[in-house]
Amino acid sequence: MAVLRVLKYGDKLLRKKTKPVVYEEIKDKLPLILKDMYDTMKFAKGIGLAANQVGIDMQLAIISYADDTKKYDFVIINPKIVSANGELYEEEGCLSFPGFFIKIKRYENVVVRAINEKGLPIEIKASGLLAKAFQHEIDHLNGVLFIDHLPLSLKLKKLPILTKLKREWKKIDETKMKPEVI
Ligand code: CO
Repeated sequence: MAVLRVLKYGDKLLRKKTKPVVYEEIKDKLPLILKDMYDTMKFAKGIGLAANQVGIDMQLAIISYADDTKKYDFVIINPKIVSANGELYEEEGCLSFPGFFIKIKRYENVVVRAINEKGLPIEIKASGLLAKAFQHEIDHLNGVLFIDHLPLSLKLKKLPILTKLKREWKKIDETKMKPEVI
């Protein structure tokens, strides 16, 4: 198991658009990258993780969680939202903002096109939490963070607390933490 450090709010890499992936060029190292991403996401108790959150400059993200009826597990490479509708206004969090939650607007339904871990094209129709997760992770790959969806006045209101938390978050290193600490 290799848990990687999750970059926290304030790290410049989170603001950089990630590079599109040429599948053939990364396919040999992809299994190891994915294993480390899954280990890190599960350790930090997340339901999604974008590669740039662990310092990997690739258009690659994972989403994995289960509800009462189904297990959702997706690897998305070079993902694009091709259609979206409806609206949700719900609380959201992010592993790059540990313990910080805000209500933001998202589309209720999205259709995502990507390639999967086998290099095959996939199209996924998602609603609710899964739709939110796709929007959140695809945002990450474009250097966009969930706080960017706050109206400016609210964002300004949250800035002092974020500035304070940023200093604490800088010290958090998942690679040095025991699971029970989180
Ligand atoms: Co996030």
